Amino acid sequence: MQTMTVPKKKTKTQAVPAHTSPRKVDFKRVGVLTGGGDCPGLNAVLRAVVKSAVFNYGWEIIGINEGFEGLLTPGKTHKLELKDVRGLLPRGGTILGSTNRGNPFEHKEDKEGKKVVVDISSLAMKSYEKLELDALIVIGGDGSLKIGQKFYNMGMNVVGVPKTIDNDLMATDATFGFQTAVITATEAIDKLHTTGESHNRAMILEVMGRYAGWIALESGLAGGADIILIPEIPYDIEEVCGKIRRRHETGSGFSIIVVAEGARPKGGDVTVLRAAKDASSLERLGGVGNVIAAQITEQTGVETRVTVLGHLQRGGTPSPFDRILSTRFGVEAVELVRQERFGRMVCYRDYRVDSVKIEDAVGAFKLVDPDGQMVRAAEAIGIGFGR
Ligand code: F6P
Repeated sequence: MQTMTVPKKKTKTQAVPAHTSPRKVDFKRVGVLTGGGDCPGLNAVLRAVVKSAVFNYGWEIIGINEGFEGLLTPGKTHKLELKDVRGLLPRGGTILGSTNRGNPFEHKEDKEGKKVVVDISSLAMKSYEKLELDALIVIGGDGSLKIGQKFYNMGMNVVGVPKTIDNDLMATDATFGFQTAVITATEAIDKLHTTGESHNRAMILEVMGRYAGWIALESGLAGGADIILIPEIPYDIEEVCGKIRRRHETGSGFSIIVVAEGARPKGGDVTVLRAAKDASSLERLGGVGNVIAAQITEQTGVETRVTVLGHLQRGGTPSPFDRILSTRFGVEAVELVRQERFGRMVCYRDYRVDSVKIEDAVGAFKLVDPDGQMVRAAEAIGIGFGR
């Protein structure tokens, strides 16, 4: 691997803008990367990390492009200065770039014409040392945080920041990006309502949610859906069709159905759009909306249309809640570095920003409780879950 050249580490507190007074703490050089699928609010976290590290401590922040891949590739690291994070608060995506690939523990390479998987984590460790980083802030979901945990076990000073629009990470009540996705999905439902009602149709909205149905559940509740189908409650298509039939018989000529991409029928499987490329990658989900639409049309005779919201849920400007959460997470990540509390992930619990061990947040998903308050409230007002 080629090496990267970085200026020698500073030993004193860095000069900071005059309106701030850095506290006396040791100088640190801290790396930051964004991994996995992007999410509204990533840039807001980066902005908060840079601002709080520079204003309060005069530290240097090194941005690493394209997730862990950037630790392995020359020229993919650069100093993030205040000017680089100006205007980032409302901007979707991530200025660092991100990737679902790039796991140094399972690196895919071509060897003599064959695809092989090799562990090159020691190269990433060397690169971390060569960059003279005192810590690495990993902003990512389950996959990236698991990688972060492995590097922490190898001696890297890792701090995690949870990210996912699916809101399925354990140990945190909320992740930034989720609320923005719910707003996008709710707006879509509102629009589907007016056209569905005009044409007496069943309108299906397929939303993201691979393992957990949080986006479907919350947008379905907020948008007044008639049926919500989520991975945690396998559906019975007879129940779904029965509900649509009853609505038609009692004068409601249209129905709104919100379905998470990971929803599956009782005794059946998820709908796969594209099979996994290899053992270390995931299959692409999608298409369950079309499967259900065909069944509804056949069993009820109701004309049905499908909208797949897709990556619209991941793009765009973060909501005020997500901007605030991202900012608080970024600030807390810097605090964890200052306190040298490594191997931890910032989290949000009971309206407070806190931290937990990364290992307590990964490996299992935070799922919707099929008998929890929110599902019961939905059922109490007549929303069906196909059960
Ligand atoms: O971030 C998770 C997620 O939103 C899943 O719900 C979805 O299956 C996946 O991202 C899609 O990812 P990609 O951008 O790789 O298609």
